[in-house]
Amino acid sequence: MRILVLGSAAGGGFPQWNCNCSGCRAARDGKAIRRTQSSLAVTSDGKSWFLLNASPDLRQQIGTYACFHPRSGARDSPIAGAVITSGDVDHVAGLLNLRESQKLSLFATGRVLAALRANSIFGVLNGDYVVRRELPLEQPTELCDASGRATGLQITAFAVPGKVALYLENLAAGPGFGTEAGDIVGLEVRAGAAKRFFYIPGCANMTPELGRRLRGAPLVFFDGTLWRDDEMIAAGMGTKTGQRMGHMSMAGAEGSIAAFAGAGVGRKIFIHINNTNPVLLEDSPERDAATAAGWEIAHDGMEIDL
Ligand code: MLT
Ligand code: MN
Ligand code: ZN
Repeated sequence: MRILVLGSAAGGGFPQWNCNCSGCRAARDGKAIRRTQSSLAVTSDGKSWFLLNASPDLRQQIGTYACFHPRSGARDSPIAGAVITSGDVDHVAGLLNLRESQKLSLFATGRVLAALRANSIFGVLNGDYVVRRELPLEQPTELCDASGRATGLQITAFAVPGKVALYLENLAAGPGFGTEAGDIVGLEVRAGAAKRFFYIPGCANMTPELGRRLRGAPLVFFDGTLWRDDEMIAAGMGTKTGQRMGHMSMAGAEGSIAAFAGAGVGRKIFIHINNTNPVLLEDSPERDAATAAGWEIAHDGMEIDL
């Protein structure tokens, strides 16, 4: 199984177009590595790839890597389809780049498929070519292409603590803003019995159940949005905490670094990293602390062979 990090930043990317924070300035000045918005690509056979989320930067990401370019014939793509973990703009907007009458197999929960159906612009994914498949929770599912052919990859989607996409929030619905099971999921991806990893780009906290699920995993990509919960407020870059946005932070007693300590996870990689997060700066004490705790910070183009 081969995994390619297409994008490692959270929504907005790094630098974000309108952000003048010190990190975004460093990225513009060439003093920090630029990052596009969060997405992975994965293949088992080296020929058919599945995208895990489709970010607004997908067109650029596809262009960057030869393994996604047409191989033969008038129209062709090694991309067999996509799996979507939430309705967030940074996870679905890239689907609009895949609209040129290409056979694709699109997997998402019933809730996310309903959000796509309700936004008629996604109708440009022509149903004659794009097969939409409902992803059940907690059931291993074969990632087949649009023709129904197995690609050697299986996924299991599971609900994680978090929040419905910002544009779907119901402010009248109480603390969860109307979030329901299936609005945000993590994925366990397998190729056969021996190879597996987890992709969880959004997660609001570590429940005992999630901790048990991840214990001893060989590889986990995990929500790296913020270093600390009030980081955007402290930087004068926003009014929301990480918890309000549905993201657990890296630092602190309730943070992901503490939550994973002793979990026996082989490789721990932060992804979906917000531009205000100081771990993006290679010479920061926060980067040192994350690294010392055994974490890697995903970067665009990072490749992993499992
Ligand atoms: C998030 O990860 O919290 C969302 O992508 C936020 C957004 O939609 O801007
Ligand atoms: Mn996001
Ligand atoms: Zn910024």
